[in-house]
Amino acid sequence: MRPNWLFAASILALSAAGAFAQPPAAATPQQRPPQRVGGFVPGQQRPPEDPAQVERGKSIYGISCRACHGADLRGGDIGGPNLLRSQLSLSDQKGEKIVPVIQGSMQAGGMPAIPMSPEDAHAVAAYVRSVLGTIGGQGRPPSAMEPPSILVGNAADGKAFFQAKCTSCHSIDGDLKGIATRISDPRVLQNTWVSGMFRSGRGPAPQTPRNTVTATVTTATGQKFEGKLIRIDDFTVTIADADGTQRTIRRNGDIPKVEVKDPLAAHRELYPVYTDKNMHDVTAYLVTVK
Ligand code: HEC
Ligand code: HEC
Repeated sequence: MRPNWLFAASILALSAAGAFAQPPAAATPQQRPPQRVGGFVPGQQRPPEDPAQVERGKSIYGISCRACHGADLRGGDIGGPNLLRSQLSLSDQKGEKIVPVIQGSMQAGGMPAIPMSPEDAHAVAAYVRSVLGTIGGQGRPPSAMEPPSILVGNAADGKAFFQAKCTSCHSIDGDLKGIATRISDPRVLQNTWVSGMFRSGRGPAPQTPRNTVTATVTTATGQKFEGKLIRIDDFTVTIADADGTQRTIRRNGDIPKVEVKDPLAAHRELYPVYTDKNMHDVTAYLVTVK
């Protein structure tokens, strides 16, 4: 996390003022003192969010973000960081900070681009801001919202889902053999199968040849560069070769030709497909694959 002392100081000031004294879950709009500034930096107060947009954002969050950032935004065990302490989210005014992240600006750190319309991305951002506004930026114990066990799914339904959606690439007698023995914590297992990447702590997953995004760049004269994709936008593409040396190449329309290979693209395309039930079912099934 990037340090920002001004921000840290304002959190301290808020704490000192007792802004976090009441349990966040109990804070309905009526009970909140009018001067409350929530988790936002003072002076950055904004009008209340549109409830319909927040509601829409909440359901999209449940589908596309929850697996990694947690039901209560405090972060999954291994996936995304705690958004309640995310300075980027705390300073978001109208999606200008959060929407680019959803669109892929932090892919290098393990936050995938999540396919969705800009309207949906703005709705998710509004939901994140609404939660931050309610809880004062501190977060609550994870147990307040997460069920104590995530093993609430139906293994038979999970098996059917697995056979329909996963067996084109995986097999429980092949690459996923004994996965529940290898990853014994169901929560870690869930985060691993949803993201396709095993992470043993917070932060980016280790890159392996099987999950690294690579790009092949072919210049107008036929020169080819290949390597790990570091960054790509309309104007440049940056790749790194095996020893880590980075090369940035200008882009102008179709020149040079850039082919991106993302082994986990299929996983990301599945995010919008999952319901909570699918996720719990598949996890309940995979924990039996010992
Ligand atoms: C596969 C796991 C995964 C999914 C799904 C995911 N994220 Fe993330 N997210 C991450 C990781 C990992 C990071 C940390 C990236 C970094 O530090 O560079 C991150 C970072 C972020 C950040 C920046 C936090 C900060 O302050 O640095 C925001 C905001 C965010 N995610 C929002 C979302 C939203 C909204 C969604 C759903 C639309 C979502 N994420 C889905 C893994 C995920
Ligand atoms: C189009 C291919 C494809 C589909 C479909 C797919 N995956 Fe994956 N999956 C991959 C790739 C590629 C990786 C990363 C390489 C690896 O670790 O196997 C991966 C990784 C994983 C991992 C981590 C493996 C490990 O050993 O740590 C799990 C678990 C997983 N996928 C489960 C699933 C489940 C469950 C589904 C269905 C809901 C699914 N995958 C659908 C391609 C796919």
